[in-house]
Amino acid sequence: MSTEILFASSNEHKVAEVRAILDPEGFIVLSLGDCGTVPPEPLEDGDTFEENARIKAIAYAIFLGMNALADDSGLAVDALGGAPGVHSARYAAIGTTREERDGANNRKLLEALKDVPSGLRGARFVCAMCLASKDGTVLAESRGVFEGRIGCAPRGSNGFGYDPLLVLPESDQTSAELSSSEKNARSHRGAAARAIATALREVRR
Ligand code: IMP
Repeated sequence: MSTEILFASSNEHKVAEVRAILDPEGFIVLSLGDCGTVPPEPLEDGDTFEENARIKAIAYAIFLGMNALADDSGLAVDALGGAPGVHSARYAAIGTTREERDGANNRKLLEALKDVPSGLRGARFVCAMCLASKDGTVLAESRGVFEGRIGCAPRGSNGFGYDPLLVLPESDQTSAELSSSEKNARSHRGAAARAIATALREVRR
């Protein structure tokens, strides 16, 4: 038996990643685009990924009257004291499309790190997920981390955001050079989605 679950995101890359994890568990993952009414975007003014994931999950669950899963994610760079962090999506504040914003963000990050040597370019993607019920109760939370370092130039064309800049320690590939299933097996979002699947199975009972 399949159960529908809303993943409250309009980022089709994120939706595809979460779908690939939850589909084999018997969940049909709906995105915001599948909802008919487009809910107003809540103000993501939390200081942490966890707070923002909670803000999104609760707002969309209450607005749509159904259980909602949401994530907040981003890149934390050691040499920048953890920035861009919760501001990852709009780090450069340039561009109207996602592709333009991602390109500008990557250029700004490379510029910020241009004098930082390889050994000090440690960074990680972080993903916080929250599952909320239609009355706004938090049912479960999870977190995943994807460790690497920031390369000196973008490489690869898979994925989105900063994927072409995060170099994996073990293979020297960037996240954008991994196949979708390889990224999901190691990534912050893959880990967070696998962890929240347990709670989803409980909710389905
Ligand atoms: P959010 O939609 O507020 O969670 O913003 C997340 C931002 O962090 C994205 O726009 C990307 O810039 C970055 N990000 C999060 N996850 C990933 C990933 O898996 N790959 C590349 N960039 C990511």
